[in-house]
Amino acid sequence: MKPVLRVLVVEDSTFDYEFLLIAFARHGMAVDTLRVETREEMHTALHDREWDIIISDHNLPQFSSFGALEVLQQSGKDLPFIIVSGDIGEDVAVEAMRSGCDDYLIKDRLTRLGPAVESALARAAMRREKRLAEERLRESESRLSQLAAHLDRVKEEERAALARDLHDEVGGALASVNFGIAALRKHIEASEEGSAALDRLREQVANAALSVQRLMKELRPSILDVGLIPALEWHTREFQRRTGIRTLFSANKEELEFPHEISTVAYRVCQESLINVMKHAQASEAYVELFCDDHNVTLEVRDNGRGISPGDLEKPASFGVYGMQERARSLRGWLEVSSSPAGTTVMLSLPLDEPRTPYLDWPPRLVASDSSPDKS
Ligand SMILES: Nc1ncnc2c1ncn2[C@@H]1O[C@H](COP(=O)(O)OP(=O)(O)OP(=O)(O)O)[C@@H](O)[C@H]1O
Ligand SMILES: [Mg+2]
Repeated sequence: MKPVLRVLVVEDSTFDYEFLLIAFARHGMAVDTLRVETREEMHTALHDREWDIIISDHNLPQFSSFGALEVLQQSGKDLPFIIVSGDIGEDVAVEAMRSGCDDYLIKDRLTRLGPAVESALARAAMRREKRLAEERLRESESRLSQLAAHLDRVKEEERAALARDLHDEVGGALASVNFGIAALRKHIEASEEGSAALDRLREQVANAALSVQRLMKELRPSILDVGLIPALEWHTREFQRRTGIRTLFSANKEELEFPHEISTVAYRVCQESLINVMKHAQASEAYVELFCDDHNVTLEVRDNGRGISPGDLEKPASFGVYGMQERARSLRGWLEVSSSPAGTTVMLSLPLDEPRTPYLDWPPRLVASDSSPDKS
């Protein structure tokens, strides 16, 4: 048995209303109807009850089908809407369809009522499904970005813990080996061979200690202790030393203190962008610039390399840029990659004050730029 269709009828003529009920019966449709004549009555009916469809006359003494459409749209409900009119011109019909009406029928030719109602209901159901799917997609995108931010946090915490362990356990062990060597020296000072062997051991321990220090710096960037600017300076210097790519750092202030999360994101974005310069850019120069005012921190990493080709950012196994965008987003900021054959620029902006709406940009968008990296 078909479910009873809940029909809200906007109609001033009781005769036409009765006629409509007969047409529904003829089409074998069980209906539960209410007739309203004015804007207020329609508003109340929409507010008080649930409906499946609205059928509206075109011209009423105090109301019209366009007015009824407006009331429906203002209610926020997405119900199928059909105009049944004595006479409706083609231009009015077209305008009505454009405004969101699903169909229109002529009063004395209601043979199409059944199919018109069925297909309007099917379209409304499809619209509902699409809306639901979009909502689910938005929800899962937001969960995904929360997860990415969480994983980032976990990674930072793990790195910090590893750095602590390195410091406490390996660093401590090396210090006591050093101490032991010093004590041993007293006993075998007489032997030249023994003394030389001890010197070699000491050197090895000193080298191991240096490696531990370097690892600790890599794992737990020194921004956490000495501030973002020294950390970026150190990192660009190290990058230049390791890669031979001339890398310049500049900042518009000499000393700045940022919240820990801001420093970590800016530092990691610089690291990741420079790794990309090394891996992909074939550049001879790179620039890291930090700009800060009372409201925002902006970090720019540019290179004079070959630029990014269209589609590069959508490689299925590439997560670098996406990860940077997620890091920016987790702090309500944004990250944009622009590129031209003269080079690539990664721009990060993080707000220091009022919340901004996060946005998700997947796959990462590539902005075409025509500025040469050393001029901008
Ligand atoms: N500075 C750059 N110059 C030229 N091409 C670049 C640059 N940065 C990124 N690309 C291109 O964009 C692609 C995507 O970069 P992304 O950092 O997202 O991933 P990836 O470096 O390939 O892998 P990973 O996930 O390890 O970072 C790269 O594979 C490369 O083709
Ligand atoms: Mg990368």
